[in-house]
Amino acid sequence: MRTHVVDHPLVAHKLTVLRDQHTDSPTFRRLADELVTLLAYEATREVRVEPDDIVTPVAPMTGTKLASPKPLVVPILRAGLGMLDGMMRLLPTAEVGFLGMVRNEETLEAATYAERLPDDLSGRQCYVLDPMLATGGTLAAAIRFLTDRGADHITCVCLLAAPEGCDNLERALEGLEVPVTVVTAAMDERLNEKGYIVPGLGDAGDRLYGVA
Ligand code: URA
Repeated sequence: MRTHVVDHPLVAHKLTVLRDQHTDSPTFRRLADELVTLLAYEATREVRVEPDDIVTPVAPMTGTKLASPKPLVVPILRAGLGMLDGMMRLLPTAEVGFLGMVRNEETLEAATYAERLPDDLSGRQCYVLDPMLATGGTLAAAIRFLTDRGADHITCVCLLAAPEGCDNLERALEGLEVPVTVVTAAMDERLNEKGYIVPGLGDAGDRLYGVA
């Protein structure tokens, strides 16, 4: 697994306003959207392309277009929905699938409660959207779900990550042949005893949507 922390002054600025406890939900949603678009630029660095023969007003040339099959963008419900528009701004022709994941309080494992994805993901590049890489359990389950269906290239876009979550995710993915990259705006200090990222930004879903 590769982790890429995007180092850019605009990312740092927007993230700081996002973290501030006084930032209200409308501002939080707008900033998250802008931030995801900046992260998407880095996250799509390896998006598959193919040659495209076109004719400009001056001459024929071979350009580049996104290859088939189209990339699949997968927001993890609920908070990943707040990242969808920001991602689709750069990949408007991508398809979108949805995954709802919840932690089973008995087994402590992430379980899928909803999914709307193509049955066959063979040869598909998938972009998984989850704002907080905290314990890593949800992302690990989502990645297994997608690779079990045949996805062969996974990029996770996260606003924030915790070192413990990255370590757990790396362990959970041991032996997986599919390349996995995590792109995030920051690697924070740690997780607290409640599983929140420190300093973090609080509960991303609540801050996006204003309800628990
Ligand atoms: N999920 C959140 O929304 N925030 C955290 O800090 C950790 C997990």
